[in-house]
Amino acid sequence: QENQTTISEFILLGLSNDAEQQNVLFVVFLGMYLVTMVGNGLIILAIGLDSYLHTPMYLFLANLSFADISSISTSVPKMLIDIHTESHSISYESCIKQMYFSTMFVVIDNFLLGVMAYDRFVAICHPLNYTTIMQPKICALLTVIPWVLSNVVALTHTLLLIQLIFCDSNILPHFFCDLAPLLKLSCSDTVVNEFVLFVIGLSVITFPFALILFSYIHIVSAVLRISTTEGKWKAFSTCGSHLTVVLLFYGTIVGVYFLPSSTHPDDTDKIGAVLFTVVTPMMNPFIYSLRNKDMKCALRKLINRKRFLPS
Ligand SMILES: *[C@@H]1O[C@H](CO)[C@@H](O)[C@H](O)[C@H]1NC(C)=O
Repeated sequence: QENQTTISEFILLGLSNDAEQQNVLFVVFLGMYLVTMVGNGLIILAIGLDSYLHTPMYLFLANLSFADISSISTSVPKMLIDIHTESHSISYESCIKQMYFSTMFVVIDNFLLGVMAYDRFVAICHPLNYTTIMQPKICALLTVIPWVLSNVVALTHTLLLIQLIFCDSNILPHFFCDLAPLLKLSCSDTVVNEFVLFVIGLSVITFPFALILFSYIHIVSAVLRISTTEGKWKAFSTCGSHLTVVLLFYGTIVGVYFLPSSTHPDDTDKIGAVLFTVVTPMMNPFIYSLRNKDMKCALRKLINRKRFLPS
């Protein structure tokens, strides 16, 4: 089987190859993209411009919004252009780059959720030591670590991926160059790649999740010890929005990867990718700004700000 013509480009089939569905997909994904960009953009602006929100919790949130904007931008614009121009090719190099960045931003999201849970844990369980524990240096470290780790993860996957040979088919049944469908397409032996994907994937999910679990067990038991209903409600409302994001994120992981999939595994890959790279980034700003009084207030200030600027 010596059919070793190396492939210089891939064909991304997208989410559906049904011609009639293309317009619907275009409109839906353009809408989700714009909502994500505007929502997260407003969060970054509101936090950046309001010095009242320059606390660790909001700086982490701004980092999450930045990762969300970047995450969705790795796949959706290219997909929209593909649908519009009806050209579905992507060069080998671009494909590898797309895999690198989409992996990196999903991993960052994951770690930032862990960091944010830890921040709430310190704020609620050790309020008197909060400013000493969450001093600027530590906060900077807690945002730098996710960036470094996610680059290490993406780089590892990339170095292993470029060893693979792609020969007879270059057709990827996906809407961007995601790692799992690329591994399926390769004609090399992908045992090592799949093993590394499994081990890294598991640790990238487990460590932040363990941190989140630890934090919320302590938060819940601390909140239950507060005697007044009002106090309880206040403590829960500060972390409720974060818990919603966490449940959304891990609910997705469990739903997509751990529940038995009745249909095709290709569809599972696609659904998972849409949820992680499109839906979660889109939902985050809503969950935070709709449930959070300070955030709403900052957004209102941001919108009114223009009126007070000298013309
Ligand atoms: C991310 O967090 C760091 C420190 O925790 C902060 O200095 C930086 O401004 C944040 N990034 C964004 C995009 O807000």
